[in-house]
Amino acid sequence: MNVSDAVAGRTSIRAFTDKPVDTALIQELLEKAARAPSGGNLQPWRVFVITSETMPRFLSFLSETDITDEAAYQIYPNDLKSPYRDSRFKVGEDMYALLGIPRDDKAARFARLAENYTFFGAPTGFFCFVDRQMGPPQWSDLGMFLQTFMLLAQEAGLATCAQEAWAMRPNSVSSFVGADEELLLFCGMAIGYKDPDAPVNGLYSDREPLDVWARFV
Ligand SMILES: Cc1cc2nc3c(=O)[nH]c(=O)nc-3n(C[C@H](O)[C@H](O)[C@H](O)COP(=O)(O)O)c2cc1C
Repeated sequence: MNVSDAVAGRTSIRAFTDKPVDTALIQELLEKAARAPSGGNLQPWRVFVITSETMPRFLSFLSETDITDEAAYQIYPNDLKSPYRDSRFKVGEDMYALLGIPRDDKAARFARLAENYTFFGAPTGFFCFVDRQMGPPQWSDLGMFLQTFMLLAQEAGLATCAQEAWAMRPNSVSSFVGADEELLLFCGMAIGYKDPDAPVNGLYSDREPLDVWARFV
C-alpha cells in the first residue's frame, strides 16, 4: 500500500468484528507512529493502551464507576460558524441516514452517541493525553501522531476511529489507566477489524473543495 492509498482508504470506522488485536502489533504501530514530526521534537503524546485482554474490565469499570466527570476541554466553539457548522451537520446527518435514524428520534441518536463509550465495540483502543503545560502547537503535534498511527493501522489491515467524545469522561479514564494529574485527556482511538456488514461503515465523508480553504497567491 502506498501513502496515497492509505490516505484515501482510511475512514472512521464505527462498528468492528470481535476479532482481538494482537498487542504486539499495536506496540509496533505506536513505535512507527512516533516518527511523526513535532515542534522542537517534543513528542508530546502520552498514550495508554487498552488491550484486547483489558477491554472487558475497562468497560465494566466505566459502567460501574460513580466518578464525576466534567469535560476535559470544550470540543467545538460556541456558535460554530459556516462553513464549519455545515460540515459538522452534514456528516452527522449522513451517518444517521445510513443508520436509518430520523432527525426527531432523539433517543436513538443519543444511544448512538453513547456507543462512543464502548469504543464502538472495538476490541482494543488507546487514549492520547498531553501534559497540561502544553498549548495549541503541541496539541497539533498530537494530530500528526494520531493520523500517522491511523495510516499505519490502515496499512496493517486495521480500522480506527479517533474519538474526542472521550473528553467527556476524563476522570473515569484517567482513574482506570492511572494517568498522572498533570496529563489531560485529548482523545481516544478505537482500533480493530472493520465489520464489513455494518451500514455505518459505508460512510465516506465529504470534503470541502480546494477553493474554499486554499488560495494560491
Ligand atoms: C481528533 C478527532 C476526534 C474525533 N472524535 C470523534 C468522536 O468522538 N466520535 C466519532 O464518531 N467520530 C469522531 N471523529 C471522526 C470524525 O467525525 C471524522 O474524522 C470526520 O467526520 C471525517 O470522516 P473520516 O474520518 O471518515 O474521513 C474524530 C476525528 C478526529 C480527527
